[in-house]
Amino acid sequence: MDLLEAFQRQRACRNFQERPVPEETIAKVLNGARMATSVENQQPWRFIVVRSEEMKTKLSNLVTKGAFLRTSPVVVVALGVEGERSVLVGGYTLSFLLDVAASIQNFILAATAEGLGTAWLSEFHEEKVSKLFGLPEGVKVVGILPLGFPVPDPPGTPVPNGRKSLSEVMAFERFTW
Ligand SMILES: Cc1cc2nc3c(=O)[nH]c(=O)nc-3n(C[C@H](O)[C@H](O)[C@H](O)COP(=O)(O)O)c2cc1C
Repeated sequence: MDLLEAFQRQRACRNFQERPVPEETIAKVLNGARMATSVENQQPWRFIVVRSEEMKTKLSNLVTKGAFLRTSPVVVVALGVEGERSVLVGGYTLSFLLDVAASIQNFILAATAEGLGTAWLSEFHEEKVSKLFGLPEGVKVVGILPLGFPVPDPPGTPVPNGRKSLSEVMAFERFTW
């Protein structure tokens, strides 16, 4: 699948087939994620691959509307390491969070290109999830990413365009909205 097609096909997926995801495919997707850009090339991302029923069940109970995580063959927990070199960007946000966000977008596109579905989940019980994975101070959960082969939509299901048009989001020289 070429990049443009992956851009167009990426959609949050919350309904997965039982079919397992081969380990090489998981590695391919995470190789895409780790190729992202980051401030000073710090690469503050880390990824925990969750496949055991026990951990998926525990995690699903800590995520808002997360019951479907139990049926997702894999769940990747994307972490950010704040460290000492994370810088304030634009005076309002920390670079390690932006870096991990860039890697998650790569993850989504790489998964799509492999025929997999995923979704970026961000509503979870932060303290309990950190405890579940034994995260040390300064390591944050940025995204919880189920990964698997999507259950196909029934034939004839309309595909929503789902995105604003270019003319709605682009301007020249000045903020005109
Ligand atoms: C930072 C971020 C956080 C998100 N958090 C959640 C979430 O907690 N639960 C969820 O179901 N989807 C979540 N999403 C997925 C979006 O809701 C979804 O991608 C968006 O509505 C567009 O839908 P589509 O990807 O199917 O086109 C999140 C996406 C982003 C970028």
